[in-house]
Amino acid sequence: MIDLLTAVYRPASDDDNASLDHQRYFADINYTDSAGLSDIRARTARYISQIVGVPINPSTVFLTNGADHAISVALSATSQLKSGDVYVPSPYYFKYPHQIELYHKGRLATQSANGGEPLNIPQMLTAGRNNQTSAIIFNNPNNPLGLIHPAGVLDRLIEASAPTGTHIIYDIVYGDTLFNPADAKHIRLSNADPLKDRLWLVGSISKSHGIPGWRLGFLVCPEQSVELIEHITEILSSNISTISQFLLNDVLTLPSFDMRRQNLATEMASSYDQMLAHLEENHAWLAPHLLKPQAGIFCCIDVRDFCSDDQKLKQALQNRGVKIKVGSALGYPGLIRLPLTAQKSDYAELFEHLAQILIPQANPSARAVIQDKPASTPVARLVV
Ligand SMILES: Cc1ncc(COP(=O)(O)O)c(C=O)c1O
Repeated sequence: MIDLLTAVYRPASDDDNASLDHQRYFADINYTDSAGLSDIRARTARYISQIVGVPINPSTVFLTNGADHAISVALSATSQLKSGDVYVPSPYYFKYPHQIELYHKGRLATQSANGGEPLNIPQMLTAGRNNQTSAIIFNNPNNPLGLIHPAGVLDRLIEASAPTGTHIIYDIVYGDTLFNPADAKHIRLSNADPLKDRLWLVGSISKSHGIPGWRLGFLVCPEQSVELIEHITEILSSNISTISQFLLNDVLTLPSFDMRRQNLATEMASSYDQMLAHLEENHAWLAPHLLKPQAGIFCCIDVRDFCSDDQKLKQALQNRGVKIKVGSALGYPGLIRLPLTAQKSDYAELFEHLAQILIPQANPSARAVIQDKPASTPVARLVV
């Protein structure tokens, strides 16, 4: 249990924090720069540079209310900087299409790629109307699958998009929640040059530390767009609350938060193992369809072998009292996304329902049939 007040209003503990502790009492009722307090941006820049492996210029770092806020600012800016549509490889984070609709003049352009298929980079650059791609949202590791793109894809994308000047919004929300630390190399940039003009980084310190409701995110904008982003953030929200800024500082400096961050990936990986073990023991035929993530806080069940109609499956689950949250269907047919934070009792019940609804592969003649039979005792707690 974290004591929020102690975390925010603790007394100065070392010289490094002294100036910030002073500001806690005297500046927290005033506006700060729309980007945030410079000391805290500098600290955030150091954190980001550990993930992406290149130095981050603190004057390009904007503190945001979570990563969603950063994505909205990046979309709004890229819309002004280059016309065209926004390409998002599928399957993708379910909010992207809505965010594009709200903040970008272009439309969503995507290919229905099978998760794990190599990305078609020329197609990504010309997928928009009139062969124009304004920006590509590249999410690595990816939500919903929790998969990491192979090393070199980002470099190839950056290189190939140079002639068209296409912007790349690199969403690294799960870049610090890797199940195998050796995968960190797949997230890194090979050099900082693209950060001058076309590469945008978005991330979420609240997500990487397992405190998503605290809304601590960042946007790193290209050096040449700092003024534009100062303007957009000033108009959108002014600074994020100073309480959040101090909290962000503490999250990045107090060892207890760092411990929380380190434990998160281990807990998520072991939660996947437990889910898999449960399936193997109770519904072995479904176990091979629980896709193994490499990062993040979700895993997916691939039900394409058993069901060709997501809507029917959803309805059948809902008829049994399963509560399906927005985001479970995701824009990629046949995937059910599960939070790795779910309690065992919840996922065990969900698997039970799925086992009763889906016809096992063992009976191919009955494939793609959904048994839409209400359960005798509906359960309302399950969240998919
Ligand atoms: C890929 C991706 N980007 C952005 C976000 C938004 O993060 P935040 O909660 O910090 O706004 C999420 C949240 O689930 C996500 O999965």
